[in-house]
Amino acid sequence: MQGKTTHSSTPAAVVIEPRRPEFDFSNVGKYWLQDPFTSHFMNALSIVVPHSERTVIDIVRKYADQISDPKLAKDMDALIRQEGRHTLMHLRCNEMLKKCGYPAIRLFEKFQKFFVGRLRKISPPAWELAMPAAFEHFTSAISRDFILNKTFWTGGPGDAASNSAVAFTDWHALEELEHQAVCFDVFAALEKRTWLLTPALLFLWMPATLISVYGMQLYFLLQDGILLKRKNWGPYVKFLLQSLPILTRGAFKYVKKDFQPWNEKDVEVYHLHKQRISPITS
Ligand SMILES: [Fe+2]
Ligand SMILES: [Fe+2]
Repeated sequence: MQGKTTHSSTPAAVVIEPRRPEFDFSNVGKYWLQDPFTSHFMNALSIVVPHSERTVIDIVRKYADQISDPKLAKDMDALIRQEGRHTLMHLRCNEMLKKCGYPAIRLFEKFQKFFVGRLRKISPPAWELAMPAAFEHFTSAISRDFILNKTFWTGGPGDAASNSAVAFTDWHALEELEHQAVCFDVFAALEKRTWLLTPALLFLWMPATLISVYGMQLYFLLQDGILLKRKNWGPYVKFLLQSLPILTRGAFKYVKKDFQPWNEKDVEVYHLHKQRISPITS
């Protein structure tokens, strides 16, 4: 596959910058967003993230020497450093969550490692390269939604909007948006057939992500007894209907010949968010 390098599509106005903010989650409860549904959705995502980000790092590193565009190589190095820090912070969050007593978290982690490991063993390079691109597809979609629909997640300004887990998510969302194009660019450089990302998402990564995230969320809500109360069924279904489009839309964009991960609106959203959370990141 050597020699098929194309260029970084991250706009010049966006610099992928590894930051090292510190977060203390010791005073954050398990319901750190506006309600148990939003909180446990993000808690479930946090369980899925560390091994997924380690896989992204590992695959990007594996193919790094096949990339000759210096800008893309620099983006890849910055992405690896950002993801390393994200993983560390998510592991910290997840330790807090495990202390709340959810024994199935460890089982899920073992299964995820086994599943992803097996899949990588049998995947040809195109399918292995689709893994980080697919993972970044979801993280950038969730990040964009967290940035744009703050009231849906945190309930608006107030205590819920100002705890350290929200600050952590704000920082992670900024960096996910910032490096959203990198794994796509690596895929485009080495594989070319970017339309392959659509079937990879539709037939593998979308079902796997939906089952993992909503499955873990359901488990948390059942363990807490939230869904044992009939009055909570309506709000739960409402949450599912509101959150599903975040994870299901956009899979077909990769079949468009001229698809680019960034657009003007994204750049604008990114800069506004970067400015808004500068007290956290500086
Ligand atoms: Fe990340
Ligand atoms: Fe990422």
